[in-house]
Amino acid sequence: MTSKTTGTHGAVLTDPAPEREGRPIVELRGAGKAYGNVRALHGVDLAVHPGRVTCVLGDNGAGKSTLIKIISGLHQHTEGDFLVDGEPVRFGTPRDALARGIATVYQDLATIPLMPVWRNFFLGSEMTKGPWPVRRLDIARMKRTADEELRNMGIVLDDLEQPIGTLSGGQRQCVAIARAVYFGARVLILDEPTAALGVKQSGVVLKYIAAARERGLGVIFITHNPHHAYLVGDHFSVLRLGTLELSAARADITLEELTNHMAGGAELAALKHELAQVGGVDVAALPKEPEAPAAGVPDQAGDTPASDAPASDTAAPAEGKA
Ligand SMILES: Nc1ncnc2c1ncn2[C@@H]1O[C@H](COP(=O)(O)OP(=O)(O)O)[C@@H](O)[C@H]1O
Ligand SMILES: [Mg+2]
Repeated sequence: MTSKTTGTHGAVLTDPAPEREGRPIVELRGAGKAYGNVRALHGVDLAVHPGRVTCVLGDNGAGKSTLIKIISGLHQHTEGDFLVDGEPVRFGTPRDALARGIATVYQDLATIPLMPVWRNFFLGSEMTKGPWPVRRLDIARMKRTADEELRNMGIVLDDLEQPIGTLSGGQRQCVAIARAVYFGARVLILDEPTAALGVKQSGVVLKYIAAARERGLGVIFITHNPHHAYLVGDHFSVLRLGTLELSAARADITLEELTNHMAGGAELAALKHELAQVGGVDVAALPKEPEAPAAGVPDQAGDTPASDAPASDTAAPAEGKA
């Protein structure tokens, strides 16, 4: 136990060490992807550690889907490096990614709505019993296992016989998460799992994201909602127009800062300026720029206070007399 850090590893020790938990399972280094001459992603660094939730945020078209398509084996990167367990890889198909423990839950879940929950849980990987010529589905064991696994994740469904299509969107996401955990995923990629959900269901999904992390999985949580991200995230990467605009550990960023990055403070300011020139818009009532006093009005974007502005005259507020 040395007291001072004067050893040979000075450089290492001066590192702020925000995330010093060892080797990531999945890592991108300066990775990018071009579709023909459309450069969808460029120079992206990302590390996914076991037991950590890495949030990837960004507006539409920012490159989030492209990023996860590379990691999940749907597309190949055209620049930089993609490593799994420290080893450079290039997946040909999603099956290659799965074989390395990388499972993706897509927004439009690949389930068969009319089949029972337990059947969907084992879809494509059914349990069988009996010797070869007369092998058949081991229904009892599948039902029991699905039930156990869902309970282990804290997911309680009344009846695993009900068609999965009768579950809510949030519940289906949860079944998909439990399924990935059961089939040995080490990395779980969730593409906007809360995008189409209400507040309550989103909360349920976030709970299972946290449960997957507790199980030691590395989670990549794609979202454009900074509030959802901040509830469960350990690391935040914000994409903008295909490049990494921000990469910060939780300890280094507040929800307000993250929200400002997402809201595009500079763009809002520019828009405000333009609206002011058009006239007829009460610029003072628009959302404040990043440095606004924290306790201000959260977001009442649409509703201009009707009472204290005549608003009929365009640009002349001064002499508005009836
Ligand atoms: N298959 C494709 N061919 C050409 N351009 C694509 C393709 N997929 C995505 N893009 C482009 O790449 C950019 C990033 O898209 P995407 O990764 O889907 O963003 P996000 O998921 O953040 O909305 C966009 O400009 C999009 O038009
Ligand atoms: Mg997308």
